[in-house]
Amino acid sequence: MSTPIHAPPQTLAILKALHSQSLLQESSLPPLPPRCTPAFNEIMSDKFIALEQDKACFVYNLLRSMNAKNVIEAGTSFGVSTIYLALAVSQNVERSGGSGNGSGRVVATENEPGKAEKARENWSLAIGGEGEGEGVEGVIDLRVGDLLETLKGDLGVVDFLLLDIWTPLALPTLKLVQPSLRSGAVIIADNTVSSYEDYTALREYVENPENGFRRMLLPFKGGLDMIIYEPRA
Ligand SMILES: C[S@@+](CC[C@H](N)C(=O)[O-])C[C@H]1O[C@@H](n2cnc3c(N)ncnc32)[C@H](O)[C@@H]1O
Repeated sequence: MSTPIHAPPQTLAILKALHSQSLLQESSLPPLPPRCTPAFNEIMSDKFIALEQDKACFVYNLLRSMNAKNVIEAGTSFGVSTIYLALAVSQNVERSGGSGNGSGRVVATENEPGKAEKARENWSLAIGGEGEGEGVEGVIDLRVGDLLETLKGDLGVVDFLLLDIWTPLALPTLKLVQPSLRSGAVIIADNTVSSYEDYTALREYVENPENGFRRMLLPFKGGLDMIIYEPRA
């Protein structure tokens, strides 16, 4: 059977293991305090909370079809979804005759230095191309710290933004990145049904026609929003 993403067996095996670890950890989470409080951040400081595998495969294929080469990930954690983004970007660069590294970029963001370090370790194990050599790390620009600071500059023209971040940060992040989005850029936001109330501000913003977005809810578990940026000329 073919796999829904194009990656060498070593990388597929790593992804499978990381998703399993994440799900196992999530199944034993205690009741959570409100997001972004010190108590919440403390509990989450060593948790994956990785994007589910089916959503990650969807995102990979969306990026391949959009030919996305400049991607931002809001919320990296241990770098699981980043591997999918980096595979897609490096393969898009390769398809257009580039060298893989250098002409495509995934800007990854993580506040917890320990998680950022673990993400780098995971990326060092993942191979991106046809199996011979190039890792995914070459296209990743990891910015450690509060993304509301680290995303303030050097974004280039952005094709895609993954909002896999605590919900109070979703709208501030979108507003920060919006001036760099190209027309036709796509934003994916996770758990928009299971965290419906928490996404009210983001939803109202993207549903206001003056802001230049269209929103579709995709039928993944917990809800996945696909938001297209098409500002009026
Ligand atoms: C849902 S997890 C991301 C999961 C990741 N996308 C994956 O699939 O593996 C959200 C991450 O955002 C990080 N985070 C929270 N607030 C942040 C901030 N202000 N700046 C950067 N990262 C932050 C958390 O530490 C957490 O690891």
